[in-house]
Amino acid sequence: MTEVTLSNVVKKYGALQAVHGIDLDIQDGEFVVLVGPSGCGKSTTLRMIAGLEDISGGEVSIGGRVVNDLPPRERNISMVFQNYALYPHMTVRENLGFSLKIAKRPGAEITEAVNEAAQILGLDELMDRKPAALSGGQRQRVAMGRAIVRHPDVFLFDEPLSNLDAKLRTQMRVEIKKLHQKVESTIIYVTHDQIEAMTLADRIVLMRDGHIVQVGTPLELFNAPVDTFVATFIGSPPMNLVDGVVEDGQIVLDGGVTLPVPTTAGRLSEGQAIKFGFRADNLMPAGHAVDEDGAVYELDLAVTLTEPLGTETLLFTNMAGVEVQGKMFNPRPVRPGEKMNFRLMLDKCHVFDAQSGHAIRR
Ligand SMILES: Nc1ncnc2c1ncn2[C@@H]1O[C@H](COP(=O)(O)OP(=O)(O)OP(=O)(O)O)[C@@H](O)[C@H]1O
Ligand SMILES: [Mg+2]
Repeated sequence: MTEVTLSNVVKKYGALQAVHGIDLDIQDGEFVVLVGPSGCGKSTTLRMIAGLEDISGGEVSIGGRVVNDLPPRERNISMVFQNYALYPHMTVRENLGFSLKIAKRPGAEITEAVNEAAQILGLDELMDRKPAALSGGQRQRVAMGRAIVRHPDVFLFDEPLSNLDAKLRTQMRVEIKKLHQKVESTIIYVTHDQIEAMTLADRIVLMRDGHIVQVGTPLELFNAPVDTFVATFIGSPPMNLVDGVVEDGQIVLDGGVTLPVPTTAGRLSEGQAIKFGFRADNLMPAGHAVDEDGAVYELDLAVTLTEPLGTETLLFTNMAGVEVQGKMFNPRPVRPGEKMNFRLMLDKCHVFDAQSGHAIRR
């Protein structure tokens, strides 16, 4: 069993505290993605799990064993980095087997492990080539193969796809997901890309300034963000946020639009300053099938700009003086300035406290 547990883990670089006492329980076989803006402490956290960085406080356990003082090679982990330097003078086969050779494993075991990794990653045809004769995606697969041959309990990935172009990233994302289905190892994966996090993770750990802001499944973070940071970080386009205030038990947006309080919102106090949040998917022109159960609020808005994406078109408009985005799922041409009757699915909307940014939810 290889669960990974972080208890009150701290990292200090001199006066700078990069990681502020984080707690995290990762299950055996789970695919966990650490995501967050640049500098929030993702790599530092991963490197402390790997043993590449000293732990300033707290405990890291792998498979029930505290590893704080174990060197990386004794943790039975494999790490794949963004810059996965392959050995240029070695063939793919030699690259794959190198770490086992260094560890003085028997030849037959190396051959078996290398062949197995090649098969899992579809490298069989490329075994005698050198890295210079491989595409970016193929090189990335060799880098993953080098991690697989060691049969680690835990795979650690730090932005392994950042050097690839957009199309290849999407392909490799699928391959990494397939890899996880095959090897069933615990994977901890770092990225700053929320789409990668959403598509890969069993659970997402969203970090900010060395703290964990929210942990949950991709849909939990998408549907129930704990604050405005999560609401705008997860999902594309980011959640629309409009300032408002609670008046007579209703929500009055700053530009004058008055809305009923969504039934999903928790207790609000009279005069409370709030941010009213909703996703583009929940603001649609009339004529779309809407969620029959939920309350719907109708409003006429002028479209300022459209972004056709194929199966859907993003509609930019202004609500209470703030630019917001809605969506149209049966795209037709829309003139800029055209007034459309929109429906806002009220019970999918979010209310946040304006000061703290915290979600106010039942
Ligand atoms: N060796 C170091 N010495 C001093 N400060 C460091 C060191 N490594 C990282 N830091 C600082 O620690 C903080 C967290 O860095 P970290 O590399 O973990 O961020 P990250 O979330 O991985 O960001 P990115 O998405 O840019 O890779 C940053 O403020 C960074 O400047
Ligand atoms: Mg990093």
